[in-house]
Amino acid sequence: MEKKRNSFGGSLGFVLAAAGSAVGLGNIWRFPYLAARDGGGLFIVIYIILALTFGYTLLSSEVAIGRKTKQSPLTAYSKLGKKGWGFLGVLSCIVPMLILPYYSAIGGWLLKYFGVFVTGKGVDAAADSYFTDFITGAGQPFAWQPILFHVIFFALTAFVVIRGVNKGIESLSKVLMPILLVMVIGIAIFSVTIKHTDADGTTRTGLQGLKILFVPSFEGLTVKQFFTTVMDAMGQLFFSISVAMGIMIAYGSYVPDDDNLDKSVRRIELFDTAVALLAGVMIIPAVFAFMGKEGMEASGPSLMFVSLPKVFAQMGLAGNVVGAVFFAMVIFAALTSSISILEAVVSSFMDAFGWSRKKAVIVEGAIALVGGIIVCLGYNTFYFELKLPNGSTGQILDILDYISNSALMPIVAIATCILIGWFTGPKMIIDEVEKNGHKMTRKHMFYVIVKFLAPVLMFVLFLKSIGVLTII
Ligand code: PHE
Repeated sequence: MEKKRNSFGGSLGFVLAAAGSAVGLGNIWRFPYLAARDGGGLFIVIYIILALTFGYTLLSSEVAIGRKTKQSPLTAYSKLGKKGWGFLGVLSCIVPMLILPYYSAIGGWLLKYFGVFVTGKGVDAAADSYFTDFITGAGQPFAWQPILFHVIFFALTAFVVIRGVNKGIESLSKVLMPILLVMVIGIAIFSVTIKHTDADGTTRTGLQGLKILFVPSFEGLTVKQFFTTVMDAMGQLFFSISVAMGIMIAYGSYVPDDDNLDKSVRRIELFDTAVALLAGVMIIPAVFAFMGKEGMEASGPSLMFVSLPKVFAQMGLAGNVVGAVFFAMVIFAALTSSISILEAVVSSFMDAFGWSRKKAVIVEGAIALVGGIIVCLGYNTFYFELKLPNGSTGQILDILDYISNSALMPIVAIATCILIGWFTGPKMIIDEVEKNGHKMTRKHMFYVIVKFLAPVLMFVLFLKSIGVLTII
């Protein structure tokens, strides 16, 4: 007897689970920085246009592939009836397997910082070497702390995935995502109202920072700079909506046949973009008020674990509360993302090998746990510096990030568009979206983008991200 496939209880559950995947570290530690750096409002306008066009196209494609085949990524591509495309399934299962270990290690760092702020010791975290000491295990026989926190974060992730699609992922997303939204809005309002005077008497306000974020800046804008902005926005968009790593196929496979896919996709996009913008309003004004323009040069881990603790420390006692709320919020964002990464792999193993959910979680869990420990040790016991093809140097985390984000994900995204645009035909996706009398609102645009624009533009982006193309 064939086992009944899991399914989301309703449209809202699907939208919030997918938004939970989409809203993650990318929204919080990269979007605000890119927007402030790449011309403020100009970047934001470009990003929104790309989200409504390219984002919509890729998201619709993946969700529709999932729902049509009722398979997770590893087996979905080969079910589309075109010979020779099964490799795409393998690739889109490898990507989340590479990402999960380091995402969970970073999740552990977040837990640690939450602990520091919630116990009122936020000021410690503002010390210059605090973060480096933590990840290198300075003064300890070995760096056990990052490992411990990674294990806790991963255990939380696995616990939810083991409970299943309905009782685990959907129920949790329905609770956490609305809370996350309220927290982001709260911190954003607070951030805009900040007024700070430096020791030398200069006063800066959050509102001035808000201007840098939203007012388009054409200063020194060259054609080359414009292309860089478009490419940055495009790269950020793909990472942010969680495409090209099998997740949206897995989630799509749990969507009931009568759900209005087009509407759901538009809601997911809206949620993800809104949180990215709000994260900008939350971070840029505060960082600008307390640290001025230099403070805005940090992104990624150095923004989250070095600059922001300094900002919180300057708020005095209140900083502990704001910091604790902030890190709790980021933990929610990261947890729902790491759950989706694990689910993509687990559902793949279940479909391809007929394993139970529990067995699949145990096998992939062991891989991710060990992988995450190796990532943590990359900053101490196994420390080395490797020069990456894009010019940056990095440790194990950066290497995994580079292979997945800069190399494999663009390949998956490009190949998916070619498969849909030229082999199965875009109509396959359009028909799936329009099943049961629903409308695909941007059908014609979808057709042109998936067939022509996306493969070309994404190929250029790919060449740029692997460092082959350096002129733009
Ligand atoms: N989309 C998430 C973000 O913006 C990141 C993510 C990456 C989620 C990979 C799942 C898988 O941070």
